[in-house]
Amino acid sequence: MKLLHVVGARPNFMKAAPVLRALEQIEGVQQILVHTGQHYDFNMSDVFFRELELRAPDVNLEVGSGSHAEQTAQIISRFEPVVLQQKPDLVVVYGDVNSTIGAALVCAKLMIPVAHVEAGLRSFDRSMPEEINRILTDDLSDLLFTPSSDGNRNLEREGVEAAKIHLVGNVMIDTLVRMLPKALLKRPKQTPEHYALVTMHRPSNVDDVSWFSSLLKVLEDVGDQIPVVFPVHPRTRQRIQDLGFAADNSHRGLHLLEPAPYLEFLSLQAGAQVVITDSGGIQEETTYLGVPCLTVRDNTERPVTVEIGTNVLVGCDPQKIRSEVESVLAGRAKRGNIPPLWDGHASERIAAVIAAGAFASDAHRECAATAP
Ligand code: UD1
Repeated sequence: MKLLHVVGARPNFMKAAPVLRALEQIEGVQQILVHTGQHYDFNMSDVFFRELELRAPDVNLEVGSGSHAEQTAQIISRFEPVVLQQKPDLVVVYGDVNSTIGAALVCAKLMIPVAHVEAGLRSFDRSMPEEINRILTDDLSDLLFTPSSDGNRNLEREGVEAAKIHLVGNVMIDTLVRMLPKALLKRPKQTPEHYALVTMHRPSNVDDVSWFSSLLKVLEDVGDQIPVVFPVHPRTRQRIQDLGFAADNSHRGLHLLEPAPYLEFLSLQAGAQVVITDSGGIQEETTYLGVPCLTVRDNTERPVTVEIGTNVLVGCDPQKIRSEVESVLAGRAKRGNIPPLWDGHASERIAAVIAAGAFASDAHRECAATAP
């Protein structure tokens, strides 16, 4: 069986690594790895391949940055010839980035079955580009691997055939479980003993000049109470520069750093008093680690982190962020538990379903037989 995996952006790499590893154990499986090149900086891409021991991509489409339409169009037009040449039995896509939907769309048109890892998540907020990517990718997929039961409910409500949906747990946690012991040895030397960890990159936070300025002021205020360690995404770095905000604000306890490699970032999360973020994956990792997480969004596609885990949605409300940080520092942080099946073995469950081969319909087989 020939499988082709597609990755493109930073949050894909830690999801794909354990799935490739689990499938390597299965006899007769050949795997091809395609990197779309959506993320291309060393510290957004290469360093993750190295640390996660992810094999070098067989193909790099080198699409780079652009508007959503430009980037997705480049992914589609550069990926199609690869699929035609490789003729995979199944294409595996991850998460909700532009590379995910671009690849899924190509395969759906070529009648190549698609497996979506991290299916079924919904924020119900269509202003998020990722929500559009999730809905469309799920609609085009033949195998849908969900990380939590809310994903199953969302898909069933949308009319997805139950036989296509597999509740397998969270592959990102597979990587966390495997890497945590190594990560704990990697704490950056100058890290303060107690600190808040911040990441911010969503367009809704960093592209709105007025809100982003207020948010930076809130983070400075937090920095007056506890040092703030803030590895800065390239998109956010650009916005900070546009605002003329001082790059070095360490005098206010706000430390702006380069994006952190996986192990260093995991270690920073594990040791943080509190994490303030708008990332999806970090809501999950903090829940697993039992670290309080304040999510600067009005909604989340990962409700299990709020219902079971340590996540609190603080919206775009400076007062709520300040008061939640105060609660954490006063020892009143929200406590949580680890959701079911976030146990380090999700990828093995995915590999077992794929190995069983229950994804190729008769139409797919017919089409594959006649493909150019
Ligand atoms: C993408 C994903 C988002 C994910 C995030 C993680 C989509 C729609 N969004 O958002 O879901 O949470 O990745 O990082 O796919 N840039 C660089 N170097 C890089 C990559 C990007 O400088 O290696 C800059 C470019 O100026 C680019 C901007 O960052 O325009 C945004 O990158 P892009 O991949 O378009 O989206 P992200 O905001 O990273």
